[in-house]
Amino acid sequence: MQARKEGGVTLRDAGLDVAFPDGSSAYFNYFWLRDNCQTSFDAITRERSFDIFAEESAPEPEAAVLVEDALELVWRCGHCSRYPLDFLTSYAAGAPRPDPADLPRRAWLGDHYPDVPRYAQPALVADPALRKAWFETILTEGVALITDMPDTPDALEVTAALAGYVRPSFFGNSFEVMTHINPTNTAFTASALELHTDLPSEEFAPGIQYLHCVANSVEGGNSIFVDAVAVANDFREQYPEDFKLLAETEIPYFCEHDAFDMRARQRVIELDTHGEVSGVTISQHMADIFDLPQDFLDFYYPAFHRFGRMLQDEKYVMRFRLNAGECICFDNHRVVHGREAYTATSGDRHLRGCYTDRGELRSAYRVLSGAGRFA
Ligand SMILES: [Fe+2]
Repeated sequence: MQARKEGGVTLRDAGLDVAFPDGSSAYFNYFWLRDNCQTSFDAITRERSFDIFAEESAPEPEAAVLVEDALELVWRCGHCSRYPLDFLTSYAAGAPRPDPADLPRRAWLGDHYPDVPRYAQPALVADPALRKAWFETILTEGVALITDMPDTPDALEVTAALAGYVRPSFFGNSFEVMTHINPTNTAFTASALELHTDLPSEEFAPGIQYLHCVANSVEGGNSIFVDAVAVANDFREQYPEDFKLLAETEIPYFCEHDAFDMRARQRVIELDTHGEVSGVTISQHMADIFDLPQDFLDFYYPAFHRFGRMLQDEKYVMRFRLNAGECICFDNHRVVHGREAYTATSGDRHLRGCYTDRGELRSAYRVLSGAGRFA
């Protein structure tokens, strides 16, 4: 096809060039244009109702022209499309759509406890602006404290539901962390619980974790939290080769008892689409026997060991006592957590936990930011 130039538009074989009023120009593909005509989306469902697969061949333009603030295009089939120039400009560079939930992370160290943002549960229920602040805290810092939790059995799930659907694990919708007679998990004993992320043996480990402290009158049992982003960023600087091994190698995790046999392979260090550290997956008590070539382990194990030791460096370790009526909420892929041992006979210690997912938290944050295409 010969390029045809008319009214600020040049028609080419597979797409067209638009000359914008500011002097810049950009190229748009005909499939993309036809697929994203304003009439392609249903006003009620907001979903694309146009089916490009129903077209027998590539869409072909008959004529196209710039009118004031829009591109008007008549297709050979007779359909007319109108594209506001603002819309075209926002897709001209082919860059991902800006995402308000894609916020830079703020790494924190062991002295972070006084600065952990606190939100009163009744205020979160009542005030969407406060919920947005809470979600932003989780997205940027990975941990927040919810105070004034109602002393009711459903308070935890009601609170978590503000951030997304409660996401069951193989322990059910929620789980009780207290000493069990026949424990299926170290968490259900009075022993120290080493730093870990929860349920790495699930193919998609839970995203956001909530631990509601119902009672805590025991001696010991302090909570231990570490920002793995802070540790992994330092690790990347100091041991770049080790970092690469932990970010690229999948290792096996397991959780097996009489009625379940969960297995999954995970990378210890998780990177986001920008290549930044977004979290870790680590658990000594759920790491399966590494079934990797032994000579590879000559490199992997020292890196894994070095990282595990670095996680425990006091510089990074935030210790605090979770009190009855508080709920700690954190990114289970970012905040590595554990517990000091406690004396089971010295009182009661009862935490109730549940999970929601990271994607739903981001969704809730975007809605409250009013940044959607239909907002
Ligand atoms: Fe845990």
